[in-house]
Amino acid sequence: MDSTTYNDVMENTNLEPATQLQGKRILLGISGGIAAYKTVDLARKLTQAGAQVRCVLTEGATHFVSATALQAVTGVAVRHSLWDEAAEAAMSHIELARWADTLLIAPATADVMARLALGMANDLLTTLALATQAKLCLAPAMNGMMWRHPVTQANLAVLQQRGAKILMPESGSLACGDTDTGRMPEPVSIVDWLAQLDIPSLWQGKKLLITAGPTVEDIDPVRFIANRSSGKMGYALAQAARDMGAEVCLISGPTQLKPPAGIKVVQVRSAQQMFEAVQCHFNGIDLMLAAAAVADYRVEQVAEQKLKKQGEQALTLTLVQNPDIVAWAASQPNRGRVIAFAAETENLLAHAQSKLQRKGVDAVLANSVAEGAGFDQPQNQLTLVTHQGVHEFPLADKSLLAQQVLTYFASTECSI
Ligand code: PMT
Repeated sequence: MDSTTYNDVMENTNLEPATQLQGKRILLGISGGIAAYKTVDLARKLTQAGAQVRCVLTEGATHFVSATALQAVTGVAVRHSLWDEAAEAAMSHIELARWADTLLIAPATADVMARLALGMANDLLTTLALATQAKLCLAPAMNGMMWRHPVTQANLAVLQQRGAKILMPESGSLACGDTDTGRMPEPVSIVDWLAQLDIPSLWQGKKLLITAGPTVEDIDPVRFIANRSSGKMGYALAQAARDMGAEVCLISGPTQLKPPAGIKVVQVRSAQQMFEAVQCHFNGIDLMLAAAAVADYRVEQVAEQKLKKQGEQALTLTLVQNPDIVAWAASQPNRGRVIAFAAETENLLAHAQSKLQRKGVDAVLANSVAEGAGFDQPQNQLTLVTHQGVHEFPLADKSLLAQQVLTYFASTECSI
């Protein structure tokens, strides 16, 4: 993917920071636009994601952001001149160019894009850009007229042709007072964009259907039966699938998570609604991952009015079974692979194997949810149970686990 609009970028969904940046050596070039004020937060978020970050400012950038603040969050001296003898003695600009595996320029002004396109080396940043073999990633930000100017667009095209990765500016209110295209995306979006650039497109051209979150079964207008699923596992799978090139439909019960960008999200409440949504979107999919915690039962008759206390009497609710969504999916002819989850508090393997048979699915991803683990946690641990055997995915952040699971399914037949 050479260029991305802001809407294509993974948004903050309360998932863990991108793990792909762990150990990356990122040279953060900051050029002189107002968006430079966001780069202290950007440098901090990159560092938190495990990257080593060194900052280089253009002369213009020094008017918008403090080198001291950047040094404080990265722990490394910030550079802005080719002619700084002490800095050159510590690490020459050529060593710095060799050190980096990614040169991220954010914000990239019209001026810096023009100089990069021409191959100029008239300051430290552009000299580094010529001297490095690092991947060049740009987050352009400028006034809307400047952005649309044919010269800027021509420079953009040149840079893209040379392989630069571009995170397109977003629309919104700009520092000049206009509402226009030209704003630099928020640091969290830049971090996630950088992280997903390195994920292989193992699911390119494939269609995935993922269920996530709890279902909510109403009792009366104010009360309901639900469970502790936060949706994190299913959303992480959906985002990883999208980042690996898949066309993703995410059917989600109620959660606190933001709907991820670039994914079709169908919001539902009850198991019956989730069933109908799955039936609607099942055709033609290559893989279904049923991570939702679907209620097995619903109240037979939802009360139209709020139930009143019946003196000292116990209240009896009659529960009827919900349709088994994943079993329905597995029973369809000429279908793609269908993978269920199993949340177990005991006898993980035995229960997962029984679900594998009973539901007729191709595999079960079992997680122990004893003492709340699995539900609403940032991490999870999964045991893949198939007709052939068992494969362990050790405890990891749900984002990383999602990538591992999808990489596994991409490389393994697993109809198993
Ligand atoms: O959402 P998080 O907080 O991140 O937590 C993740 C998780 C623990 C919810 C997730 O990893 C998980 O285990 N999801 C499945 C939970 C569950 O309902 O398991 P189950 O053993 O009750 O159901 C087995 C499978 O049948 C599941 O794939 C479920 O989606 C499916 N099912 C269940 C009932 C039903 N009526 N229809 C179904 O399709």
